[in-house]
Amino acid sequence: MSTQTHEGILASLTAAIRAESDPQSAMKRAVSILQHELPYYTWVGVYLLEGDELVLGPFLGKPSPHTRIPLGSGICGAAATQRETIIVDDVNADPRYLACSIETKSEIVVPIMDGGRVLGEIDIDSDRPAAFGAADRTLIEAVAALLAAKLTNP
Ligand code: SME
Repeated sequence: MSTQTHEGILASLTAAIRAESDPQSAMKRAVSILQHELPYYTWVGVYLLEGDELVLGPFLGKPSPHTRIPLGSGICGAAATQRETIIVDDVNADPRYLACSIETKSEIVVPIMDGGRVLGEIDIDSDRPAAFGAADRTLIEAVAALLAAKLTNP
């Protein structure tokens, strides 16, 4: 397990993301730090909105069949459409869920926003049921804001 608290991880992420010179490197770095520091984050990825589809960018974990997700589909599509974080404690009980791995039990999806505009989202799956709580939401929403800043003003 990580020896760092979520606050410590956010401090590392803030410095790392700000230090990267371009959005692609910043997204890769964020994905890498999150997955490394929080072992229950089994799959971590960033989708970017292109037209009315979410297109998979940097990720770590098993390859996903869902590399392009229409806004009307999945928990990912719902979070982008509603412009708010969605936490699902039991993905198998959620009819919106698009399966990526049979081991996945819970998921958090956080939109990356520029004001009211959705730029993309951070999607994290866990093999643990109900893995994501308030501290995870706070952390991932802060990372989404850092990535939004990098995407709009690299
Ligand atoms: N589970 C997501 C699809 C993406 S994969 O988990 C990587 C969804 O329901 O939108």
